[in-house]
Amino acid sequence: MRCMLIDFHRKMLADRVRHDAFRRALAAYIAAGARTVADLGAGTGVLSFFARELGAKECWLYDPGTVLGLAAALADANRIDGLHFVPVHSLEAEDPPRVDLVVAEVLGNFAYEEGVLDTLRDAQRFLAPGGRLMPSALAQWAQPVTSARFDQELVSFRTVGHGLDLALAERVARNNMYVHAIEARDLLEVPPARWDMVELKGEFSSARQGAVRWTAPASARVQGFALWWEATLAPGVVLSTSPHAERTHWDQIYLPLTTPLDTEKGDAIELAIACETGGGEGGIAMQWTARHARAGATLGEQTLDIARGYVE
Ligand SMILES: C[S@@+](CC[C@H](N)C(=O)[O-])C[C@H]1O[C@@H](n2cnc3c(N)ncnc32)[C@H](O)[C@@H]1O
Repeated sequence: MRCMLIDFHRKMLADRVRHDAFRRALAAYIAAGARTVADLGAGTGVLSFFARELGAKECWLYDPGTVLGLAAALADANRIDGLHFVPVHSLEAEDPPRVDLVVAEVLGNFAYEEGVLDTLRDAQRFLAPGGRLMPSALAQWAQPVTSARFDQELVSFRTVGHGLDLALAERVARNNMYVHAIEARDLLEVPPARWDMVELKGEFSSARQGAVRWTAPASARVQGFALWWEATLAPGVVLSTSPHAERTHWDQIYLPLTTPLDTEKGDAIELAIACETGGGEGGIAMQWTARHARAGATLGEQTLDIARGYVE
């Protein structure tokens, strides 16, 4: 487990696309006058190190993990001063100093997991009047998947043999969201569709939902759906985990289906998603419904739910 933690940070530290985007956004706000920064989920401290180098005067680094000790040692080794290390989760920070800029890089592969929306809503209490939050908006995208390669693990229940019917176990497994490196070539040739957009200002709910629709361009078998996110870090600076954009260390989410959709040209493919990520436990509720229609008539509808995807 110890290596897992540093390896998690190693991957983030090696992500040039991520760093280019955060540096550009930090540079823009610091050039516009931001002097003080709160770094929520500071990890190894890299974003605060960038902020100091770019001209910020003081940064407060919040993280309850032991990685904050490494951040302090790295700051010493690199002779970076003006940093305050606060070893608490931001939701538990009492009366935090108000700053010009809050940066919260606490994003996962799905973007909303680990109570991210709770953190970003609460982050506003760290802001001085006129202060800015980075990211300022999150968008969630979807596109149908035609490649069968992500379903291979799921269909392996069918090849166990020994006369066993494991269809019920496969059904449980399908009611889950999976992290995979999905590429543009895995997707149905239709435009991506945005199923959610959150402006991270004022009150916003951690319960999110949205529905999107595509028209099949040709006969195809839809195996499931790919999800990814875009974060607006500053005006004009968007970090994307899209399979159509330059790769980052984040992967995409694969939402399976119970049965694939065999579409013909002109068929409607609809996806509705509802998720709830609040509550402080880091848990996630997620339900997705796929509908397939031809000439206005429903050919099939299936709802999957991660509440049905667990065994204890
Ligand atoms: C995705 S890593 C990012 C680390 C660092 N910001 C970077 O850019 O390399 C997230 C870190 O945030 C911490 N974390 C997540 N939510 C937090 C919160 N609300 N307050 C403080 N730390 C948080 C985790 O412990 C983890 O170390």
